[in-house]
Amino acid sequence: MVTLIREDNITAGGILMDNHLILAAGILGTTGASLNRMLSNGAGAVVTKSIGPSPKEGHKGPCVYVMDGAVLNAMGLPNPSSDFIEELNVLKDKPVIASIFGADPDEFHEVASWFKGKVRGFELNVSCPHAQGYGAQIGCNPGLVLECTRAVSRTGLPVWVKLTPNVTDIKESGIAAERGGASAVVAINTLKAMRISTDLRRPVLGNLTGGLSGPAIFPVALRCVFELYKALNIPVIGCGGVSSADNVIEMMMAGASAVEIGSAVLDRNDIFEKIAGDLYSEEGEKASDIIGCAHE
Ligand SMILES: Cc1cc2nc3c(=O)[nH]c(=O)nc-3n(C[C@H](O)[C@H](O)[C@H](O)COP(=O)(O)O)c2cc1C
Repeated sequence: MVTLIREDNITAGGILMDNHLILAAGILGTTGASLNRMLSNGAGAVVTKSIGPSPKEGHKGPCVYVMDGAVLNAMGLPNPSSDFIEELNVLKDKPVIASIFGADPDEFHEVASWFKGKVRGFELNVSCPHAQGYGAQIGCNPGLVLECTRAVSRTGLPVWVKLTPNVTDIKESGIAAERGGASAVVAINTLKAMRISTDLRRPVLGNLTGGLSGPAIFPVALRCVFELYKALNIPVIGCGGVSSADNVIEMMMAGASAVEIGSAVLDRNDIFEKIAGDLYSEEGEKASDIIGCAHE
C-alpha cells in the first residue's frame, strides 16, 4: 500500500493541522469534550456540528437509519446556536473549524462573527439535503454560494465551502465558492436518499427523505474531488465514505489535500488512530507527490 511520510506543519486550505485526517461536521461534534476526544484519538483537525443563527431542535425521529455500508440521516441541523461558543473554551489553540449555516449572506456573516478568535477557520454548510431554507437550497444556487462565501471571507479567516453532490455540475458550485474568496472547497455532503420499511409500509425516517453517507458514497465523492481538482485553483478537501488509509490515498490521488471522515467514526471511535497508523510510515512518500497524481 502507498503510505505517506509524516510531515510537520501540514496546512490545507489555509488551516494548520496535526495530520491529513479531519473529523467531518456533525459527527460527535456537538460538545467541546467530544471534539477534544477525537483530537486525542488521532484526528488532525475537527469540524464542529453546523451552527446556525437561532437554536433548532431538528426533525422528528427516527433521524438515523444504519444499513450495511451506508447511513441515512435527517437530523435537520439541530443546534444550540450561539450557546455553542462556550463549548470551544476547552479547545483553545486547537485545530478547530466551525461549521456554520444561515439562510442568506447576512446570517452567515453574523454566525461567523461569534467564532472570531475561537477557531482556525470556517466550513460553510451550503449542502445539507434535508433542511428547509438552508444548506443545499443555497448550495444549488451558484450566485448565493458566491455571496455567502464573500460575506464570511470578510472575517479574514480561511473559509472552506462544503458542496452538495445533488447538482448536475458540482464544478459550477466550486467555481462560485472560489470567486467568493474561499480558501478551499469540501466535497461532499450527503446524497439525498430514502428507504421504506416494507413491514411498516412507511419511510424509515421521520422526515421521509435524508442524506446518504458511508462507504456506499465513496465513488461519488471521489468523482466530485477529481472534477473539482481539475476545475479549481484552490485546494479540495475530500469527504464521503472514507473508512481506510487506502481510501485516504485514493482521495488524495484524485486531488484531495486532506480528508474528512464521518460515518466511519460511528463504527469505531478509534478510527483516526487506526487510519493514521496505516497511513504514515518511515518509507512513506511526500503528500505533495500523491495529491492529484491520478491527473498526470
Ligand atoms: C449523523 C450525521 C450528522 C451530520 N451532520 C452534519 C452537519 O451538521 N453539517 C454538515 O455539514 N454535515 C453533516 N453531516 C455530513 C457529514 O459531515 C459528511 O459530509 C457525510 O456524512 C459524508 O461523509 P462520511 O461518508 O464520511 O460520513 C452529517 C452526517 C451524519 C451521518
